[in-house]
Order: sequence, then C-alpha cells, then structure tokens
Amino acid sequence: MSTPDDVTLVGFAELSATVVRARLLAAHDRFWDVDTRSLHHPVWFDQFGGFGALARSAGGEDVGYVLGVVTADRLAYLHLLAVRDDRRRTGLGRRLVAWFDDLARDTGARVVQAVARPENTAAVAFHTALGAGAHLAQDRAGPGADRLVLTRSLTR
Ligand SMILES: CC(C)(COP(=O)(O)OP(=O)(O)OC[C@H]1O[C@@H](n2cnc3c(N)ncnc32)[C@H](O)[C@@H]1OP(=O)(O)O)[C@@H](O)C(=O)NCCC(=O)NCCS
Repeated sequence: MSTPDDVTLVGFAELSATVVRARLLAAHDRFWDVDTRSLHHPVWFDQFGGFGALARSAGGEDVGYVLGVVTADRLAYLHLLAVRDDRRRTGLGRRLVAWFDDLARDTGARVVQAVARPENTAAVAFHTALGAGAHLAQDRAGPGADRLVLTRSLTR
C-alpha cells in the first residue's frame, strides 16, 4: 500500500522539539507495544534533533517519527522509529527511513544500524524487508535482555 498523500515529513529542526516530545510521550501507547519512554531522552530531540523527522497528517496529527544520529565513524544509528497503530503498513515507515537515510548519506554515513527486541516481529520484518542483516547481541540491554542489531548498507 502506498503512503496516504495527506502525510508530510517535517524535520525536528523546524519544530519545537520540547513540545513535540511531550506530545509523543502523551500518545506513547499509540506508537509502542512496550514502555519505551526512557528511550525518548531529550538529547534525541534537542541535541540530535537535526537527524529526526515527524510525520504529520493534513489534520495536524502526529502519525510517525524517526530519531537517530550519525556518529564520527560514519555509522548512521536509527534510535527510534514508530508509526501510529492506525497508519501501519501504508509505507510510512519506509518513507521515514528513506528521509533518515538521505540525510545520513549526505552526512557521509555508509551503514545504518537499528536495534530491536528479537520478539518485535514487525520491526524485524520491516528492517529485513529493507535489506538489513540481523545479528543477535546477547545481554545487550542487560542480563537476559538480548537484542537484534540490524545493519544495512547505505550505498546507492
Ligand atoms: C516497525 C514499524 C515502524 C513499521 O512501520 P510501517 O509504516 O508499518 O512499515 P511499512 O508500511 O513502511 O512497511 C514496509 C515493509 O516492511 C515489512 N513489514 C512492516 N510491518 C510488518 C509486519 N507487521 N509484518 C510483516 N512485515 C512487515 C513489509 O515487507 C512492508 O512492506 P509491504 O507492506 O509492502 O508488505 C511499525 O510496525 C511500528 O511503528 N511498530 C511499533 C514501533 C516499533 O516497534 N518500532 C521499532 C523500530 S526498530
């Protein structure tokens, strides 16, 4: 399915990051199945906000977002990606990642990485569909909390 035309992507640099962060946290459960509030630290919105984008409907609703950063060794790290529950499987996740990929490439990145819980089948299927390879990192998020590191080349 293609993304509905009513959705526009806006870089966080053009928004009031503090206000948007508060809105996204208030709507947290529409975007996430597990509690990810602690991952929404202000640094991702303020200091690294230039790498993030918000997807807005024509009616001004927040329907998706991506947050990340490009490191000094040219790794694009995709920290958070979420699409509101009623907007999934419309291509919006792809669109948000394409926005991030373009900026990351322009910043010199060669590789993009995301981290997901192995049981997050939607996230794993999504990144795999985009061409990512998966590597299991045992205890990455603490004892017994394994994570999948999903890595994809950014070459055009
Ligand atoms: C993961 C997530 C961002 C995907 O966003 P989305 O907008 O639904 O993804 P898209 O519509 O762009 O899907 C692109 C492709 O990914 C794959 N995909 C996405 N969701 C899938 C699912 N639930 N099951 C199987 N494949 C899936 C499909 O191949 C899909 O293409 P298709 O619809 O043409 O078959 C979304 O499910 C989400 O927000 N989940 C909750 C937040 C979360 O867990 N984020 C983790 C990111 S690491």
